[in-house]
Amino acid sequence: MTETKKSEWNSNFAFMMAMIGSAVGLGNIWRFPNVLYSNGGGSFMIPYIVSLFLLGISFVLVEYAVGFKFKRSLARILFAVNKKLEPVAWFILLIVFLIATYYVCVVGWDLIYIFLSLTKAWGSNPDLFFANNVLQATDSISGIFTIVPMVFVSVFAIWFMAWFIIKRDLNDGIGNVSKVLLPVLCLIVVGIVAFSLTLPGASTGYTQIFTPDWSALTNLDVWLAAFGQIIFSLSLGMAIAMTYASYLPEGSKLVDNAIIVAFSNSGFEVFNSIGTFSILGFMALTTGIPFNDLVTEGTGLAFVVFPQVFNIMGDVAYIIGPLFFICILFAGITSLIALLEGVCYSISEKFLIERKKTATAVCIVGFLISILFTTSAGSTILGVFDAYLNNFALLFAILLECIIFGWIYKFDDLIETLNNNSTIKVGKTWKTVIKYILPICIAGLWIQGVLSTISTVDSLSATIMLILTVVLIVVPIIFAKLPAINEHYYDA
Ligand code: PFF
Repeated sequence: MTETKKSEWNSNFAFMMAMIGSAVGLGNIWRFPNVLYSNGGGSFMIPYIVSLFLLGISFVLVEYAVGFKFKRSLARILFAVNKKLEPVAWFILLIVFLIATYYVCVVGWDLIYIFLSLTKAWGSNPDLFFANNVLQATDSISGIFTIVPMVFVSVFAIWFMAWFIIKRDLNDGIGNVSKVLLPVLCLIVVGIVAFSLTLPGASTGYTQIFTPDWSALTNLDVWLAAFGQIIFSLSLGMAIAMTYASYLPEGSKLVDNAIIVAFSNSGFEVFNSIGTFSILGFMALTTGIPFNDLVTEGTGLAFVVFPQVFNIMGDVAYIIGPLFFICILFAGITSLIALLEGVCYSISEKFLIERKKTATAVCIVGFLISILFTTSAGSTILGVFDAYLNNFALLFAILLECIIFGWIYKFDDLIETLNNNSTIKVGKTWKTVIKYILPICIAGLWIQGVLSTISTVDSLSATIMLILTVVLIVVPIIFAKLPAINEHYYDA
């Protein structure tokens, strides 16, 4: 059998929107404000900007150069670099796929909150409501036998949306959806930030992020936090930029594009955090709750603190509330489809399965795994998946990618690819960053992640992590060993 027709972006705008959409996600909305606040406020901007250039843009450039040069899926690229490396590709893709299975669930919770916010159905105690009514959470593992119907339905709905988008042709699906959702998302965020600045107490909030704590700069953890945020926020190492760049037509401007994407993503999170802090400042002023008790991250911020704020905001919350949760939905969907695209691409290229069928198979298997997170024990298991995959497995994958492209592959070919296709040129400094500086920084983050995981792990988490480790070793080997149906798969 011969290869199917290659996908190609029909405009640079579609590519940019899809790239920025893949980066702007839950991490920008609810992870960044907390990372910023707990790592020195205004002074955090220094390690953050250094990480953006050193790690973020540098690594995105590797992904762009590799994707654009090979114009293939990750599995086939690593096979071409060295055939022994194919399992590494499936290892990375499996991590990404597993991340997608729980990311869907969080977006699913958000979908529920869009409806709840129409009537502020969480009542006077959003904390208890989230745990008892939405998640129906239990700490006991026996909770995996109890499916929570509302979460199940919303997770199904999100998987359905993702399937509906990625099964379509590249431009029809991901391209068009990103071109609509991302600008709408930005408009809503501009509206929310503008409104939040008019709230009493707003300045107490946003001055917190502009007040620097210079002593934080000498703290290594602060630097590691900046690296961690850039990795998460730019979705580094997940083969997303590589996949999207492989669909670029000749004549595209790679370095220029990468810089715009990275700045847009960071600009989004910094701008959005001004709104978040203003809203928290309003809450602190109105209720007298100390500011630092309000700054939490993740689900605590979105599904507990924000509903509390909406409770005291009056009728305007019936507009701001749904808009806020719609933002999270849009940001989540464009990131989710990006996570799935690279996985589908490798499968469809190796086994020569057409796009629609691959998307259907991937989404069905993904949904079946996600059912685990729709049970009463779901949020506990989700926390373990998140900690293991993000702090441990993904960092390890990025380290491997640095070594493969920096040391095993002819790096100068990547420099040439970028310089032939960009207005802004790269050179030796970039090479040094990828070969030496980046691996050292990532290794530091990885050790920190391992140590913090070990210090907090309980027996349930340890068991889940052990199972994940076995799966992450066995499944990639099987996928690499399966013979390719595509006769060109093994071409150099
Ligand atoms: N960069 C996106 C976000 O900030 O949410 C997408 C993403 C990052 C998804 C990391 C999953 C993940 F683990």
